[in-house]
Amino acid sequence: MAFKIKDITIENKIMLAPMAGVSNSAFRTLARKYGAGLVFAEMVSDKGLLHKNEKTLNLLYMTDYEKPMAQQIFGSDLKTMVDAAVYIDIHSNCDVIDINMGCPVPKVAIKAQAGASLMKYPERIYEIVSEIVKKVSKPVTVKIRSGWDHQSVNAVEVAKQIEKAGASAITVHARTRSQGYSGKADLDVIKAVKQAVKIPVIGNGDVVDGPSAKQMLEYTGCDAVMIGRAALGNPWIFREVEAYLNDGSIIDKPTHKEIEEMMIYHFESLVELKGEHVACLEMRSHGPWYLKGIPHASSLRKQLSHINDKGQFIEQVRTFFRSYTENN
Ligand SMILES: Cc1cc2nc3c(=O)[nH]c(=O)nc-3n(C[C@H](O)[C@H](O)[C@H](O)COP(=O)(O)O)c2cc1C
Repeated sequence: MAFKIKDITIENKIMLAPMAGVSNSAFRTLARKYGAGLVFAEMVSDKGLLHKNEKTLNLLYMTDYEKPMAQQIFGSDLKTMVDAAVYIDIHSNCDVIDINMGCPVPKVAIKAQAGASLMKYPERIYEIVSEIVKKVSKPVTVKIRSGWDHQSVNAVEVAKQIEKAGASAITVHARTRSQGYSGKADLDVIKAVKQAVKIPVIGNGDVVDGPSAKQMLEYTGCDAVMIGRAALGNPWIFREVEAYLNDGSIIDKPTHKEIEEMMIYHFESLVELKGEHVACLEMRSHGPWYLKGIPHASSLRKQLSHINDKGQFIEQVRTFFRSYTENN
């Protein structure tokens, strides 16, 4: 199951995706605990780092429990991206520096000309990646999309530039920028990239369980799969996929008790990391994600979507699961 990103051994083929507002130290720790071989931290802005923006610097926080961990940066200017990568190389204990060339959100891809908009300029990608590789000691990886839009699916061309520039792995989210998150990920794009380069390729898009992970690995030949949305409110997915890939076994879904305890544990980890106020804001999303598929949870979901107090959160979650157990 293991593979290498330059000199870093990754124990298995299951990665946690970088997700802004989600893949912070608290969630990465959970993902590692439940079996992710490598966790990607949410993107940080190159300029935010260089301007020593407090919020951006806080995003670099990590612990040894998460290792191996990849820290992602985004930007569009050669100089600021290189300087930000050097900053991370020196100041972060992460193992890998990942460059975002796939973010589709207008603030990043259009206003800042960063993220997926770089897919339109393969030579610029080469320049950015090769300068960063020259200046840092940690392995450099790049996360791309299939292309900018359906008329310019150029992941293979971009991947070749990335490899030539000295990167140590590539993640392909097999959708174009204009697709956003709609439609299905195109496994043929991942397969074509895998055939075109020698460095490890991580496939991404629509892996939701063991069988979809296995299918991506087998169909495309990619070295690992990356899981994003299916991990929201579901850090157990990594153990589920790992078991399936190991011997085809289907392990039990988490019990309601496990979900209850995880919600509270995750919330308390966020409080420790970011303070009660921000933890409450973030739990407004995570809370309902944890409840997906649980019948009669709509009133708790509603309560959690405007939670602003730690005691209230714990009380509401405990009350729901207590009455749920009594009535079922
Ligand atoms: C809430 C959210 C935040 C995301 N933030 C980032 C990010 O910071 N950097 C990045 O490269 N991709 C980001 N993505 C994209 C994911 O890493 C991944 O490529 C995408 O969700 C497709 O994988 P999936 O089908 O497993 O969800 C984000 C996705 C979501 C849903």
